[in-house]
Amino acid sequence: MIIYKTIEGLKNSLYKAKTQGKKIGFVPTMGALHTGHLSLLEISKKENDLTLCSIFINPSQFNNQDDFIKYPITTENDILLLEKISTDILFLPSLEEMNTLKSHASFNLDGMDQILEGLHRPGHFQGVCEIVEKLLRIIHPDFLYLGEKDFQQCLVLKKLITILQLDTKIKICPILRSPSGLALSSRNQRLSETGLLHAANIFKVLSNIKTQLTTGNWQTLKETSIKNLLNNGFEKVDYLEMCDTDSLQILDEAPEKREVVILIAAFIEGVRLIDNIKTTANILTN
Ligand code: PAF
Repeated sequence: MIIYKTIEGLKNSLYKAKTQGKKIGFVPTMGALHTGHLSLLEISKKENDLTLCSIFINPSQFNNQDDFIKYPITTENDILLLEKISTDILFLPSLEEMNTLKSHASFNLDGMDQILEGLHRPGHFQGVCEIVEKLLRIIHPDFLYLGEKDFQQCLVLKKLITILQLDTKIKICPILRSPSGLALSSRNQRLSETGLLHAANIFKVLSNIKTQLTTGNWQTLKETSIKNLLNNGFEKVDYLEMCDTDSLQILDEAPEKREVVILIAAFIEGVRLIDNIKTTANILTN
């Protein structure tokens, strides 16, 4: 694996690869790599000639300073993991290096950045778009690999690529879970053993909604699910919503025969976890 810390170095190397007609797959990360990240890289490796991972903890997407300070940094181990799965290139720029590039002041995301995550983390998606625009303009990958755990981020970045009229295509990859059902996340590293056990309730709640959801019971299900989490280790639920899978419009009741996504953000041991599940309302039989 070749590690580039400068934009110039990376660009030169990619220029060569592109003139040789190589297809490039890109997995942007903030490090603290886990099996979920590695699965994105493995998919990219199968589908491209060259797979590139970036590690950059982007300060502009953290609305909460405490979350930024506590974000796990495990660069040495990340490099070992990336080498083990034969990643071709790691881009590991410093903050100063990324700050040499200018970015749009703000992106018109049609309100997608104002709801759910956006409502609870003001400025978060503008920060994500700012850094991803910079990365895409440096790398110009053929494919960008994103994990579906960050469901809203996937839709926001689809919008960004349309706004910027870039040729990169997004590939959304399935959520990876631990045997308990807990979605893999870098933030899980901050949980105690008990916290990890309780955190698995988030997936239990989502799975229960999936089996129970009908066209008339969402409000009740939502209320009991929130209570369930608060009684089982979670301190606070930022939101639990059912949304349209394309527009992310919040729905009051499940439509018939149309897939919806249930999204959740909740705190446990001061750590904010997000997760989601796609489902279609069950048909009631008499
Ligand atoms: O999902 C993440 O880890 C980050 O939001 C991303 C896409 C790497 C941008 O900093």
